Amino acid sequence: MQNNLRVVTLDGPAGVGKTTLAKRVAQELSIAYLDTGAMFRIFGWKFGEAAPKMSEEELEAHIAQYSFTLSGIGFDSVLSVNGTPVGDEIRTEEVAALASTVAKLPVVRDALKRVQREISTQTSLVAEGRDMGSVVFPQAKFKFFLDATAEERGSRRFKQLQEMGKPANLDLIISQIKERDMQDRTRSVAPLVAADDAHIIDTTTLNIDGVFAAIMEHFAE
Ligand code: C5P
Repeated sequence: MQNNLRVVTLDGPAGVGKTTLAKRVAQELSIAYLDTGAMFRIFGWKFGEAAPKMSEEELEAHIAQYSFTLSGIGFDSVLSVNGTPVGDEIRTEEVAALASTVAKLPVVRDALKRVQREISTQTSLVAEGRDMGSVVFPQAKFKFFLDATAEERGSRRFKQLQEMGKPANLDLIISQIKERDMQDRTRSVAPLVAADDAHIIDTTTLNIDGVFAAIMEHFAE
């Protein structure tokens, strides 16, 4: 990372509000927002089902077909894969589960770590994910880890779906969140864990404005 480029890391489990906050923080700081979950989702979507049975060479050959670029700032940040902006096709629970499956594979993690670090040499960014502060950007000066109970995260997701007029089952959502938590926290490579020097924010009883304020306080210091 060049000295004049800044990386802010924002990690935490599924459904904790990272995306909304990471975009808002990036907007406030006038820097780019990088959704690293979208990178794992792309791989999950494209070759996730077959991935666990592939040899390292096969996986590398698949990965080599995709190149990621990041442009824009804050809310207008755009992550593209092979020149096409990533769209809503990856925003399903099925793709999320496949993303979690490929995210266990060291070859995939190493490849994306390289890409994420490369992007950080070109632009300042808020990097949102699971291992941004702990593994990918250990030198980042500002690290945040958001947390909330699975029940609280599930009920937030349930309300969101209801507001969008989509069918939703609260118990199912909570069990999917717990399943993904387990996969993310127990994998042997880069498990979901707060970096030792991350600011941990429990969002269970905070709304988005409260969490945003708690994060921005650290930049004022
Ligand atoms: O954040 P999002 O829900 O889009 O991430 C999808 C999945 O990708 C996560 O459940 C996790 O398994 C994986 N992931 C990861 N490391 C990251 C970002 C996402 O392992 N930095």
